[in-house]
Amino acid sequence: MDPVHAGAGGDGVLSVLVPCERRAGERRVAATPETIRALVAVGLAPLVEAGAGQPAGYGDALYTEAGARVVAADQLDWAGADVVLTVAPPAAEQLRQLKAGALLVGLLEPYGAAERLNLLAGGQVSAVAMELLPRISRAQSMDVLSSQANIAGYKAVLLAAAALDRYVPMLMTAAGTIQPARALVLGAGVAGLQAVATARRLGAVVYVSDVRPAAKEQVASLGGRFIDPPAEQERPAEAGGYALAASEAFLAAQRQQLSEQLALADLVICTAQVPGKPAPRLISDGMLAGMKPGSVIVDLAVAQGGNCEGTVPGETVWRHGVQLIGADQLPSSVANHASALYARNLLALLKHLLASGELQIDPEDPILAGCLISHGGRCLRPDLLPAADAPAPSLAPV
Ligand code: NAI
Repeated sequence: MDPVHAGAGGDGVLSVLVPCERRAGERRVAATPETIRALVAVGLAPLVEAGAGQPAGYGDALYTEAGARVVAADQLDWAGADVVLTVAPPAAEQLRQLKAGALLVGLLEPYGAAERLNLLAGGQVSAVAMELLPRISRAQSMDVLSSQANIAGYKAVLLAAAALDRYVPMLMTAAGTIQPARALVLGAGVAGLQAVATARRLGAVVYVSDVRPAAKEQVASLGGRFIDPPAEQERPAEAGGYALAASEAFLAAQRQQLSEQLALADLVICTAQVPGKPAPRLISDGMLAGMKPGSVIVDLAVAQGGNCEGTVPGETVWRHGVQLIGADQLPSSVANHASALYARNLLALLKHLLASGELQIDPEDPILAGCLISHGGRCLRPDLLPAADAPAPSLAPV
């Protein structure tokens, strides 16, 4: 497929729209005054909806100073935008307004999102779902999953520490010595490793379970103690640095092993995941019964079904005397820095697409392969659609 150039505005300058995020609880913004300045420097014309950066601590005046035009919601020209930068996917009514050839970049939540994918393809929008960006070294500066999961791992430990009825560090006081808290981190990917580092900084003794052999050294380098996966079962395979789904026999053996660890733990941070699949169930209700009362579990994988049975997205519940925190939207709770990093990720992608001096969307580009979900009137990832909604292959070749 030939590269297609996004249409320029009448004056030849590409306009970049940054709308307010409308999803409840979303405080991040897709461009900060810092990245607006950089967009202006490369010749783009940013248009920011009034109040877009407010929840993240970036006021309208800062955007104006940086060179953006700040406009009220009713003057926002979705139809005229060449590029739209968002965090969450825009509503269907906004997607319908986008012009053919416009570029939409954000966390577009494409899995099973038939209506959105069909709207984007039907409207000839080039849409980049940042969560599908390949984890290759050239794309590292654009990797929003890493920048945001890092924040989630950090904040999860703070939440656990605040909810605990115990100190985290070892303390020697006139009234005697307090032993350090014992943390258990499940999954040593981006969020897990940051959780290890944060828990160590607070003074916890940290144990970590992962199924990838490479994780062992990374955990050790942060001062964590690695729990080798159960030897009697074959480890799940790996692809592209990700663990694939484990067999039920493996998970059963792992739960058995983790039961002993849980009984000793004060705080548990759950981050184990297999991309595109339900989170592996590593803690059952029965295992909670063996934990010390007052212990805290923060489940970051709650949106994928949770590593821990009984966690509820956005809620804290008690089971067997253990506090279960279903932590969703953690990056949003650190909105200022989460936005700063997210916006830089998007800026890095835009600069890459503008490398030739004009905006080039090439489906063959290894960075776009996989995350460019629609382009030139086609859905490029029909595999993400529920089977019945997948367009006929002749209409939508990948
Ligand atoms: P990642 O893919 O970098 O790491 C996941 C780790 O889990 C990998 O190291 C993998 O080997 C490991 N794993 C897979 N199966 C396992 C098993 N059976 N036992 C032990 N470890 C296993 O993922 P990342 O970016 O660190 O995200 C972790 C989780 O946090 C995901 O569920 C993600 O959606 C979630 N997240 C939640 C946020 C929130 O606000 N709640 C924000 C950002 C991420």
